[in-house]
Amino acid sequence: MKSCGLFFLLILLAVCESSFAWRSFFRGRGKHGFGEPKLSRKYQLPPDMWFTQNLDHFDPTNMQTWQQRYFVNEEFYKKDGPVFLMIGGEGKASAKWMVEGQWIEYAKQYGAMCFQLEHRFYGKSHPTPDLSVKNLVYLSSEQALADLAYFIAGIRHKYQIPGDSKWVVFGGSYPGSLAAWARVKYPHLVHGAVSTSGPLLAQMDFQQYYVVVEEALKTHSQACVDAITNATHQIHVMLRHRIGQMNLSEKFKLCTQIDPSKTKKNDISNLYEILASNFAEVVQYNKDNRDSSKFSNISIDTVCDILVDQKRGIAVDRLAEVSNMMLNASGDKCFDYKYSNMLDEMSNVSWKGEMSEGGRQWTYQTCTEFGFFQTSTAKPLLFSETFPVDFFVQQCTDIFGPRYNIHLLENAIERTNTFYGGLQLEVTNVVYVHGSIDPWHALGITKSSNPKTPAFYINGTAHCANMYPASKQDIPELIAVRQKVGKIIGRWLN
Ligand SMILES: *[C@@H]1O[C@H](CO)[C@@H](O)[C@H](O)[C@H]1NC(C)=O
Ligand SMILES: *[C@@H]1O[C@H](CO)[C@@H](O)[C@H](O)[C@H]1NC(C)=O
Ligand SMILES: *[C@@H]1O[C@H](CO)[C@@H](O)[C@H](O)[C@H]1NC(C)=O
Ligand SMILES: *[C@@H]1O[C@H](CO)[C@@H](O)[C@H](O)[C@H]1NC(C)=O
Ligand SMILES: *[C@@H]1O[C@H](CO)[C@@H](O)[C@H](O)[C@H]1NC(C)=O
Ligand SMILES: *[C@@H]1O[C@H](CO)[C@@H](O)[C@H](O)[C@H]1NC(C)=O
Repeated sequence: MKSCGLFFLLILLAVCESSFAWRSFFRGRGKHGFGEPKLSRKYQLPPDMWFTQNLDHFDPTNMQTWQQRYFVNEEFYKKDGPVFLMIGGEGKASAKWMVEGQWIEYAKQYGAMCFQLEHRFYGKSHPTPDLSVKNLVYLSSEQALADLAYFIAGIRHKYQIPGDSKWVVFGGSYPGSLAAWARVKYPHLVHGAVSTSGPLLAQMDFQQYYVVVEEALKTHSQACVDAITNATHQIHVMLRHRIGQMNLSEKFKLCTQIDPSKTKKNDISNLYEILASNFAEVVQYNKDNRDSSKFSNISIDTVCDILVDQKRGIAVDRLAEVSNMMLNASGDKCFDYKYSNMLDEMSNVSWKGEMSEGGRQWTYQTCTEFGFFQTSTAKPLLFSETFPVDFFVQQCTDIFGPRYNIHLLENAIERTNTFYGGLQLEVTNVVYVHGSIDPWHALGITKSSNPKTPAFYINGTAHCANMYPASKQDIPELIAVRQKVGKIIGRWLN
């Protein structure tokens, strides 16, 4: 998720996916992330700043340090005002969040100093020389939370912020989880947290994801969902014979022809998963006020209008039309569904690799902390059994090695939920915000009877919608929640 004469931070499950090769990016393990805000005018964005950070917060004998990027914006700060900290996530931090976005409105309202801290191992924050498995042991949400604690302590000193100033953290998507957890783990440093679209429950098989996608598509029409189901079935049948295989290769502009002697089961799972993730992308970011997304003008209505238009041919032809539209929008010439190509990209340990924008790192976090695998296995079967959980577990093993198997994953997920508490958080001064058409709400807190930790569930909004700058299209529920969250922050600060 993504400033002014000044410096700051951002991101929520924050990936600015606009900068990635979206097609292969984070497939299946989190269309997470939010984009950058659409700026209403030109700004001079704040420069990169650097904070000296410990490599390993949990080994006192390890004195190694590295440079972590942050941004700051002091423009709105009033003496004795609060400090707002935007938490970075699984993508590079964007300075644009330092100048516009809902939290900046709150900062103006309350005279806050604003910081954004990039998450270790993403963007320009490189704790180690490369992304080898040996180095990725330092990549975890717990290390990231400790980074926040050290950052708060160090920044107080550097900017001479009084020790009793109140710090409020913000985050959306994975950083939404980090925001809540920062308040849980470091209450003496973090006074309050606005946790947006945060998945708090680690789960291996996140099949609920595509259930929410399906429900969102149904808001257009049942026919839209039926068309996808029909097309999936037609692809199934076509894959079984030579002419069908050739037709599919052509219709979907596949980079490599489907060939029974060379095409593997994982290639086909990959193909289905990429097709499905087109819909995930469209739903997750439906009509939010993001900037520079290649898909920002492709909404649920755009794709469903094509899918239900029987004049365009049989269901598979219509699905191919949607797929080709997405392909074109992402600037790719052909549809690369080869599993081995994805593995090659994901296995590159260089900071300059194609995946170093975060794909390899986030995959590591899903394989060692969260799961979150967006499988096709839920009923009703929009994409049928085409990419089950084994497909994702196999990727962990193929990318990181034989130790990264189902047993490690099961332990890791139990560990995460034991350490953080899953959906049972004992905490105060946290506000949770979710949108009904954001699939991630299924792993977050959307209801609360505790006035100290209110939850807002907005009917009709997508991932992290409340964090973006206001737009004319905003629905009344969204406008109301932004105001309510602002009042809650005001109460924390009094
Ligand atoms: C899906 O297939 C069913 C049965 O063949 C058909 O009646 C229906 O019209 C199809 N729906 C769409 C949207 O293609
Ligand atoms: C495949 O392509 C051939 C030739 O273009 C066409 O005759 C046939 O109907 C197509 N089959 C399907 C299932 O689309
Ligand atoms: C979205 O915008 C691009 C370029 O601005 C354009 O080529 C494309 O046709 C648009 N797509 C839709 C569905 O409006
Ligand atoms: C793909 O997009 C480009 C512009 O981005 C446009 O000129 C071209 O016509 C599009 N092609 C298709 C097949 O939609
Ligand atoms: C990793 O990616 C970089 C940058 O794209 C490339 O130069 C390098 O050759 C890749 N390494 C391997 C082992 O493929
Ligand atoms: C959500 O909004 C839709 C229309 O936008 C409405 O049909 C539906 O009843 C609403 N659901 C709830 C739970 O308010």
